[in-house]
Amino acid sequence: MKNVTLDRISKAFGPKQVLKGVSMDFPPGKISVIIGPSGCGKSTVLRLLLGLIPPDDGAIFVGEQDVTRFNSLEWQRMRESMGMVFQSGALFDSMTVGENVSFVLREHTRMPAEDMARLVSEKLAVVGLAGTENLYPTELSGGMQKRVAIARAIVRNPSLILYDEPTTGLDPATSTIIEDLIVRVSKESGAASVVVTHQLSTIFRTADRITMLHQGRVLESGTPEEMKESPEPMVSGFLRGEPHYDAANAPRAQREDER
Ligand SMILES: Nc1ncnc2c1ncn2[C@@H]1O[C@H](COP(=O)(O)OP(=O)(O)O)[C@@H](O)[C@H]1O
Ligand SMILES: [Mg+2]
Repeated sequence: MKNVTLDRISKAFGPKQVLKGVSMDFPPGKISVIIGPSGCGKSTVLRLLLGLIPPDDGAIFVGEQDVTRFNSLEWQRMRESMGMVFQSGALFDSMTVGENVSFVLREHTRMPAEDMARLVSEKLAVVGLAGTENLYPTELSGGMQKRVAIARAIVRNPSLILYDEPTTGLDPATSTIIEDLIVRVSKESGAASVVVTHQLSTIFRTADRITMLHQGRVLESGTPEEMKESPEPMVSGFLRGEPHYDAANAPRAQREDER
Protein backbone atom coordinates (compact mmCIF):
# COMPACT_ATOMS: atom_id res chain seq x y z
CA MET A 1 0.00 0.00 0.00
CA LYS A 2 1.34 3.39 -1.00
CA ASN A 3 1.41 6.79 0.56
CA VAL A 4 -0.59 9.40 -1.34
CA THR A 5 0.59 13.00 -1.14
CA LEU A 6 -0.52 16.38 -2.41
CA ASP A 7 2.51 18.61 -2.80
CA ARG A 8 1.82 22.35 -3.02
CA ILE A 9 -1.24 21.94 -5.23
CA SER A 10 -2.87 25.00 -6.74
CA LYS A 11 -6.13 25.01 -8.65
CA ALA A 12 -8.23 27.84 -10.06
CA PHE A 13 -11.55 27.77 -11.87
CA GLY A 14 -11.50 30.84 -14.08
CA PRO A 15 -10.65 33.80 -11.86
CA LYS A 16 -11.44 31.86 -8.69
CA GLN A 17 -8.30 30.54 -6.98
CA VAL A 18 -9.69 27.57 -5.02
CA LEU A 19 -6.49 25.90 -3.78
CA LYS A 20 -3.34 27.96 -3.15
CA GLY A 21 -0.44 25.61 -2.57
CA VAL A 22 -2.11 22.87 -0.53
CA SER A 23 0.01 20.00 0.81
CA MET A 24 -1.54 16.95 2.45
CA ASP A 25 -0.58 13.40 3.23
CA PHE A 26 -2.84 10.36 3.02
CA PRO A 27 -1.11 7.37 4.64
CA PRO A 28 -2.23 3.78 4.02
CA GLY A 29 -4.35 2.21 6.75
CA LYS A 30 -5.36 5.64 8.07
CA ILE A 31 -8.47 7.75 7.70
CA SER A 32 -7.72 11.36 6.78
CA VAL A 33 -10.66 13.70 7.24
CA ILE A 34 -10.88 17.00 5.37
CA ILE A 35 -13.09 19.71 6.83
CA GLY A 36 -13.72 23.36 6.05
CA PRO A 37 -16.44 25.79 5.02
CA SER A 38 -18.65 25.06 2.06
CA GLY A 39 -16.89 25.95 -1.20
CA CYS A 40 -13.37 25.78 0.27
CA GLY A 41 -12.25 23.09 -2.18
CA LYS A 42 -12.82 19.77 -0.39
CA SER A 43 -14.51 18.04 -3.31
CA THR A 44 -11.93 19.59 -5.62
CA VAL A 45 -9.20 17.76 -3.68
CA LEU A 46 -11.02 14.45 -4.25
CA ARG A 47 -11.44 15.16 -7.98
CA LEU A 48 -7.73 15.99 -8.24
CA LEU A 49 -6.86 12.70 -6.50
CA LEU A 50 -9.03 10.81 -9.00
CA GLY A 51 -7.36 12.58 -11.92
CA LEU A 52 -10.72 13.97 -13.06
CA ILE A 53 -9.22 17.48 -13.16
CA PRO A 54 -5.55 18.48 -13.45
CA PRO A 55 -3.88 20.82 -10.96
CA ASP A 56 -2.48 24.14 -12.23
CA ASP A 57 0.63 23.72 -10.16
CA GLY A 58 2.19 21.24 -7.73
CA ALA A 59 2.42 17.47 -7.75
CA ILE A 60 0.37 14.48 -6.60
CA PHE A 61 2.39 11.46 -5.58
CA VAL A 62 1.13 7.90 -5.34
CA GLY A 63 4.12 6.20 -3.79
CA GLU A 64 7.11 7.56 -5.71
CA GLN A 65 5.14 8.32 -8.87
CA ASP A 66 4.06 11.84 -9.79
CA VAL A 67 0.64 11.06 -11.26
CA THR A 68 0.09 14.63 -12.47
CA ARG A 69 2.27 13.68 -15.44
CA PHE A 70 0.14 10.68 -16.34
CA ASN A 71 -1.58 10.42 -19.72
CA SER A 72 -5.19 9.26 -19.90
CA LEU A 73 -4.30 5.58 -20.28
CA GLU A 74 -2.03 5.70 -17.24
CA TRP A 75 -4.79 7.45 -15.29
CA GLN A 76 -7.27 4.81 -16.33
CA ARG A 77 -4.97 2.15 -14.90
CA MET A 78 -4.31 4.18 -11.74
CA ARG A 79 -8.04 4.61 -11.13
CA GLU A 80 -8.38 0.83 -10.88
CA SER A 81 -6.71 1.18 -7.49
CA MET A 82 -9.05 3.98 -6.38
CA GLY A 83 -12.61 3.85 -5.13
CA MET A 84 -14.95 6.81 -4.76
CA VAL A 85 -18.18 7.17 -2.81
CA PHE A 86 -19.85 10.22 -4.33
CA GLN A 87 -21.76 12.74 -2.26
CA SER A 88 -25.19 11.80 -3.56
CA GLY A 89 -24.46 8.07 -3.54
CA ALA A 90 -25.04 8.29 -7.28
CA LEU A 91 -26.33 4.78 -7.87
CA PHE A 92 -27.86 3.98 -11.24
CA ASP A 93 -31.58 3.65 -10.52
CA SER A 94 -32.16 1.61 -13.66
CA MET A 95 -29.69 -1.07 -12.53
CA THR A 96 -30.03 -3.63 -9.77
CA VAL A 97 -27.81 -3.48 -6.70
CA GLY A 98 -25.66 -6.27 -8.17
CA GLU A 99 -25.31 -4.46 -11.49
CA ASN A 100 -24.36 -1.25 -9.68
CA VAL A 101 -21.64 -2.98 -7.68
CA SER A 102 -20.23 -4.83 -10.70
CA PHE A 103 -20.45 -1.80 -13.00
CA VAL A 104 -16.72 -1.03 -13.20
CA LEU A 105 -15.91 -4.71 -13.59
CA ARG A 106 -18.24 -4.99 -16.56
CA GLU A 107 -16.93 -1.75 -18.07
CA HIS A 108 -13.23 -2.27 -17.55
CA THR A 109 -12.46 -5.97 -17.22
CA ARG A 110 -13.14 -9.26 -18.97
CA MET A 111 -13.83 -11.01 -15.71
CA PRO A 112 -15.98 -14.15 -16.14
CA ALA A 113 -19.57 -13.72 -14.92
CA GLU A 114 -19.22 -16.28 -12.09
CA ASP A 115 -16.15 -14.50 -10.69
CA MET A 116 -17.96 -11.20 -10.90
CA ALA A 117 -20.99 -12.60 -9.09
CA ARG A 118 -18.77 -14.03 -6.36
CA LEU A 119 -16.98 -10.69 -5.91
CA VAL A 120 -20.27 -8.75 -5.80
CA SER A 121 -21.75 -11.06 -3.17
CA GLU A 122 -18.53 -10.85 -1.13
CA LYS A 123 -18.54 -7.01 -1.16
CA LEU A 124 -22.26 -6.82 -0.38
CA ALA A 125 -21.58 -9.06 2.62
CA VAL A 126 -18.81 -6.69 3.75
CA VAL A 127 -21.31 -3.81 3.89
CA GLY A 128 -23.99 -5.95 5.57
CA LEU A 129 -26.24 -6.32 2.53
CA ALA A 130 -25.72 -9.95 1.57
CA GLY A 131 -28.33 -11.26 -0.84
CA THR A 132 -29.63 -7.88 -2.07
CA GLU A 133 -28.23 -8.29 -5.62
CA ASN A 134 -31.59 -8.26 -7.34
CA LEU A 135 -33.16 -5.30 -5.54
CA TYR A 136 -33.29 -1.85 -7.14
CA PRO A 137 -31.81 1.23 -5.42
CA THR A 138 -35.27 2.81 -5.04
CA GLU A 139 -36.30 -0.18 -2.91
CA LEU A 140 -33.55 0.65 -0.39
CA SER A 141 -33.31 3.20 2.42
CA GLY A 142 -30.80 6.07 2.13
CA GLY A 143 -28.37 4.30 4.44
CA MET A 144 -28.60 1.06 2.46
CA GLN A 145 -27.99 2.97 -0.79
CA LYS A 146 -24.89 4.47 0.78
CA ARG A 147 -23.70 0.99 1.74
CA VAL A 148 -24.19 -0.18 -1.86
CA ALA A 149 -22.13 2.82 -3.00
CA ILE A 150 -19.37 1.70 -0.61
CA ALA A 151 -19.55 -1.89 -1.89
CA ARG A 152 -19.21 -0.52 -5.42
CA ALA A 153 -16.22 1.63 -4.41
CA ILE A 154 -14.33 -1.32 -2.89
CA VAL A 155 -15.12 -3.92 -5.55
CA ARG A 156 -11.60 -3.74 -7.02
CA ASN A 157 -9.85 -3.72 -3.63
CA PRO A 158 -8.62 -0.13 -3.99
CA SER A 159 -5.61 1.20 -2.13
CA LEU A 160 -7.17 4.68 -1.98
CA ILE A 161 -10.82 5.15 -1.00
CA LEU A 162 -12.46 8.58 -1.22
CA TYR A 163 -15.71 9.51 0.53
CA ASP A 164 -17.45 12.81 -0.23
CA GLU A 165 -19.84 13.73 2.61
CA PRO A 166 -20.79 10.08 3.22
CA THR A 167 -23.23 10.81 6.06
CA THR A 168 -24.84 14.06 4.92
CA GLY A 169 -28.61 13.72 5.02
CA LEU A 170 -28.59 10.51 7.06
CA ASP A 171 -30.16 10.24 10.51
CA PRO A 172 -27.78 9.78 13.48
CA ALA A 173 -28.26 6.00 13.83
CA THR A 174 -27.68 5.43 10.11
CA SER A 175 -24.68 7.79 10.17
CA THR A 176 -23.15 5.66 12.92
CA ILE A 177 -23.53 2.53 10.79
CA ILE A 178 -21.80 4.23 7.84
CA GLU A 179 -19.04 5.68 10.05
CA ASP A 180 -18.31 2.27 11.60
CA LEU A 181 -18.30 0.72 8.13
CA ILE A 182 -15.76 3.27 6.89
CA VAL A 183 -13.52 2.40 9.87
CA ARG A 184 -13.91 -1.35 9.34
CA VAL A 185 -13.17 -1.12 5.60
CA SER A 186 -10.09 0.98 6.38
CA LYS A 187 -8.81 -1.57 8.92
CA GLU A 188 -9.57 -4.63 6.80
CA SER A 189 -8.25 -3.21 3.52
CA GLY A 190 -5.26 -1.22 4.74
CA ALA A 191 -6.19 1.37 2.11
CA ALA A 192 -5.62 5.08 2.53
CA SER A 193 -9.05 6.60 3.20
CA VAL A 194 -10.01 10.23 2.65
CA VAL A 195 -13.29 11.44 4.13
CA VAL A 196 -14.74 14.86 3.35
CA THR A 197 -17.37 15.80 5.92
CA HIS A 198 -18.71 18.57 8.09
CA GLN A 199 -20.60 16.26 10.44
CA LEU A 200 -18.98 16.16 13.89
CA SER A 201 -19.99 12.55 14.58
CA THR A 202 -18.32 11.46 11.36
CA ILE A 203 -15.15 13.43 12.13
CA PHE A 204 -14.74 11.97 15.60
CA ARG A 205 -15.86 8.41 14.83
CA THR A 206 -13.58 8.02 11.83
CA ALA A 207 -10.62 10.44 11.80
CA ASP A 208 -7.05 9.43 12.47
CA ARG A 209 -6.05 12.89 11.24
CA ILE A 210 -8.02 16.02 10.43
CA THR A 211 -7.06 18.77 7.99
CA MET A 212 -9.00 22.01 7.88
CA LEU A 213 -9.00 23.95 4.62
CA HIS A 214 -9.82 27.63 4.59
CA GLN A 215 -9.48 30.24 1.86
CA GLY A 216 -7.41 27.98 -0.34
CA ARG A 217 -4.90 26.95 2.30
CA VAL A 218 -4.44 24.33 5.01
CA LEU A 219 -5.48 26.23 8.11
CA GLU A 220 -4.44 23.44 10.45
CA SER A 221 -3.84 19.71 10.53
CA GLY A 222 -3.52 17.24 13.40
CA THR A 223 -5.07 14.42 15.39
CA PRO A 224 -8.65 14.94 16.62
CA GLU A 225 -7.30 15.64 20.13
CA GLU A 226 -4.76 18.19 18.86
CA MET A 227 -7.33 19.91 16.68
CA LYS A 228 -9.84 20.22 19.55
CA GLU A 229 -7.20 22.04 21.59
CA SER A 230 -6.13 24.22 18.67
CA PRO A 231 -5.41 27.90 19.46
CA GLU A 232 -7.10 28.67 16.15
CA PRO A 233 -10.68 29.57 17.18
CA MET A 234 -12.15 28.48 13.87
CA VAL A 235 -10.72 24.97 14.28
CA SER A 236 -11.36 24.37 17.97
CA GLY A 237 -14.71 26.18 17.90
CA PHE A 238 -15.99 24.08 15.04
CA LEU A 239 -14.77 20.80 16.52
CA ARG A 240 -16.28 21.58 19.90
CA GLY A 241 -19.60 22.26 18.22
CA GLU A 242 -19.68 25.90 19.25
CA PRO A 243 -22.10 27.99 17.24
CA HIS A 244 -20.92 30.82 14.97
CA TYR A 245 -17.48 29.25 14.73
CA ASP A 246 -16.98 30.62 11.23
CA ALA A 247 -18.80 33.92 11.45
CA ALA A 248 -17.06 36.49 13.61
CA ASN A 249 -13.95 34.42 14.21
CA ALA A 250 -11.74 35.18 11.26
CA PRO A 251 -8.82 32.76 11.39
CA ARG A 252 -5.75 33.97 13.21
CA ALA A 253 -3.54 33.44 10.14
CA GLN A 254 -5.76 35.72 8.08
CA ARG A 255 -5.88 38.43 10.74
CA GLU A 256 -2.10 38.39 10.87
CA ASP A 257 -1.96 38.76 7.06
CA GLU A 258 -4.09 41.86 7.33
CA ARG A 259 -1.87 43.59 9.83
N1 LIG B 1 -15.74 22.80 -12.53
C1 LIG B 1 -15.83 23.96 -11.86
N2 LIG B 1 -15.97 25.12 -12.51
C2 LIG B 1 -16.06 26.29 -11.86
N3 LIG B 1 -16.01 26.41 -10.52
C3 LIG B 1 -15.88 25.30 -9.80
C4 LIG B 1 -15.78 24.00 -10.42
N4 LIG B 1 -15.64 23.07 -9.45
C5 LIG B 1 -15.65 23.74 -8.29
N5 LIG B 1 -15.79 25.06 -8.48
C6 LIG B 1 -15.80 26.10 -7.44
O1 LIG B 1 -14.70 25.88 -6.61
C7 LIG B 1 -15.02 26.10 -5.25
C8 LIG B 1 -14.73 24.86 -4.43
O2 LIG B 1 -15.65 23.86 -4.79
P1 LIG B 1 -15.71 22.46 -4.02
O3 LIG B 1 -14.39 21.81 -4.06
O4 LIG B 1 -16.86 21.71 -4.61
O5 LIG B 1 -16.05 22.94 -2.54
P2 LIG B 1 -16.46 22.10 -1.24
O6 LIG B 1 -16.53 20.65 -1.63
O7 LIG B 1 -15.43 22.39 -0.21
O8 LIG B 1 -17.79 22.64 -0.81
C9 LIG B 1 -16.47 26.54 -5.22
O9 LIG B 1 -16.52 27.94 -5.19
C10 LIG B 1 -17.00 26.00 -6.53
O10 LIG B 1 -18.06 26.81 -6.98
MG1 LIG C 1 -18.10 19.33 -1.75
